[in-house]
Amino acid sequence: MPGLTIGDSVPNLQVQTNQGNFKLHDFIGDNWTIIFSHPGDFTPVCTTELGKMAAYVPEFDKREVKLLGLSCDDVKSHNEWIKDIEAYTPGCKVSYPIIADPNREIIKQLNMVDPDEKDSSGKQLPSRALHIVGPDHQVQVKLSFLYPASTGRNMDEVVRALDSLQKALKHKVATPANWKQGDPVVISPSVSSDQAKETFPQGFETVDLPSKKEYLRFTNV
Ligand code: BEZ
Repeated sequence: MPGLTIGDSVPNLQVQTNQGNFKLHDFIGDNWTIIFSHPGDFTPVCTTELGKMAAYVPEFDKREVKLLGLSCDDVKSHNEWIKDIEAYTPGCKVSYPIIADPNREIIKQLNMVDPDEKDSSGKQLPSRALHIVGPDHQVQVKLSFLYPASTGRNMDEVVRALDSLQKALKHKVATPANWKQGDPVVISPSVSSDQAKETFPQGFETVDLPSKKEYLRFTNV
């Protein structure tokens, strides 16, 4: 997959949204930000996804994360579509901006093009891409999802991945398979056991493995 990926800085593109025009870096600032794309307005899976994203706004607010959607259709279409989204997911408010990209310039630069999907006039369409951008003005992609048009995303997984990133940044830890908030975490391999005793005074448990290598260490943070 060519283009923007983990570790890259988000390009400072000028974007047009249903909440006004701005440069991406001005929007992101020093915040965690999730930029997520959708194949098109008035399509079934996208309508459910944008509604679910809106329903999860309180979860993202708790984690101090900004949201920015993208669908190629124009701003007028977005404003009409939002009425359907909010009707389908009662109680939700699409409070985040949605980028319009009628010329497909933004999706190329953000690595959000689906090679298999075209609109009725043969123009390219976005995949269901999602970039989680880190804080501290580095505008760096920390994690990306890339789903095809046929597969709607699970917002619990978006929140879980975000929790993992935020946990890893705050403590020198990583999160194991199927981890969720509150579960034990693992100590990064770059931390020696002597360092681990200092960094994790609460203690940690080393799993006894056949190799006798002491690399699987669990702690609670
Ligand atoms: C949808 O959102 O349902 C969708 C959009 C484009 C292609 C297939 C499905």
